[in-house]
Amino acid sequence: REPDLEAVFQATIDADQRIEPRDWMPDDYRRTLIRQIAQHAHSEIIGMQPEGNWITRAPSLRRKAILLAKVQDEAGHGMYLYAAAETLGVDREELTEKLISATQKYSSIFNYPTPSYADVGVIGWLVDGAAICNQVPLCRCSYGPYARAMVRICKEESFHQRQGYELLLAMVNGTPEQQAMVQESVDRWWWPSLMMFGPADGDSPNTQQSMAWNIKRHTNDELRQRFVDMSVPQAEALGVTLPDPDLRWNPERQAHDFGEPDWSEFTAVIAGSGPANTQRLAHRRRAHENGAWVREAAQAYAEKHS
Ligand code: ACO
Repeated sequence: REPDLEAVFQATIDADQRIEPRDWMPDDYRRTLIRQIAQHAHSEIIGMQPEGNWITRAPSLRRKAILLAKVQDEAGHGMYLYAAAETLGVDREELTEKLISATQKYSSIFNYPTPSYADVGVIGWLVDGAAICNQVPLCRCSYGPYARAMVRICKEESFHQRQGYELLLAMVNGTPEQQAMVQESVDRWWWPSLMMFGPADGDSPNTQQSMAWNIKRHTNDELRQRFVDMSVPQAEALGVTLPDPDLRWNPERQAHDFGEPDWSEFTAVIAGSGPANTQRLAHRRRAHENGAWVREAAQAYAEKHS
């Protein structure tokens, strides 16, 4: 019966309709989704750390309340995404083990430190901006539970981006020291933000098949270009310089030309030797171990009431 099932699956993809958890799907489709959704969920959870660093030191009650809410949203995104992954037959416990044993990846971007408060604004503007650019098309992903999770996540991410931009607007209209803090932070985050979109198309082993399955809707390079074009006028409005001497408008392409990210840095960061990889994973592992008593208590409670 397998060929029939495969034909139904292919017809659903060809008609640009959704695959749901109860539907038959090829093993590789399932594997690809588990890989991408798990990596995405881990990124949201690890992504709480760089900004969480500033919660106790945010400069006002208002800024602290905003940051707390944002970091909580990221935990929520991680939870929706783990739930979406669970519909594919894996469990959250197993995925958490893979994260803390470094056998599953999370986004390279969260392995960079946040030494300056301006980083909170720049992460909102550039990192969340890049995330939106990459994730809006995922709302049309062929796998129903992932696509639906992305709708809400994208709405919240847009809000995060605006809070970052608003924070930066306040700083660039502040003292020369504050303006310099923003520029210094942009200089550190620009290239890592471009790397969030993944390797260049020629070096991306998964893109072609993921596009054929309507999981990805655009290639890594297409989205990177879109992000650059979107960011340039925003940088101008802020009065900051993007640290790329090759960045310029190309009237023929009706798009910006820009330099090549340092792919050796990207490879090193995803292989575990970025500036904060060890710290990020150690922190996550510690939090998991410290939460053991909660899991045990919940289990005991569930057994008592079953
Ligand atoms: N950081 C870490 N790993 C990456 C990154 C990155 N920025 N970009 C690509 N990779 C990994 C891929 O996971 C893949 O590894 P694997 O085959 O061992 O699993 C490898 O590099 C090759 O890349 P691609 O073939 O291009 O992989 P893929 O088709 O999965 O595309 C992408 C990568 C664009 C990140 C895709 O997985 C995606 O859109 N994911 C959902 C979005 C997401 O995870 N965002 C997380 C950061 S945003 C946030 O959380 C706020």
